[in-house]
Amino acid sequence: MRKVMILNGPNLDQLGTREPELYGTLTLAGIETLCKETAATLGFDVDFRQTNDEATLIGWLHEAAKSDVAVIMNPAAFTHYSVAIRDAAAMLTAPLIEVHLSNPIAREEFRHTSLISGISKGTISGFGAQSYVLALNALAKL
Ligand code: DQA
Repeated sequence: MRKVMILNGPNLDQLGTREPELYGTLTLAGIETLCKETAATLGFDVDFRQTNDEATLIGWLHEAAKSDVAVIMNPAAFTHYSVAIRDAAAMLTAPLIEVHLSNPIAREEFRHTSLISGISKGTISGFGAQSYVLALNALAKL
């Protein structure tokens, strides 16, 4: 079975109660379940993780690069300023898809820059938890 890592950055562990008008009411555990259900229909084995720590996320990207595993990543706030996350993601050998629950381009100006988009196969934003489902379906077609 093809493996995919779904990596989530800071504050996404607070989904459910975090600004629900922007991010919805589904918890991260709910998104994980949704991803695993979708992945099962597509033949993917999902490794779903979240961290608030930049170094940990970098370590996971190194792990994915070394094992040639595809990554779907919501880098959260790191998207907008972390050169270190971009550099780690640039080492990936399998496809990277960037996802966001909200549409950062429709929000504050500081969210309009993504350091990750330029090294991603593509970006899916603005569809809430469905952004992850769309990313899995896109990955299955690559
Ligand atoms: C986010 C958008 C980012 O701008 C923000 O910092 C997040 C969540 C999203 O999924 O919409 O933490 O990545």
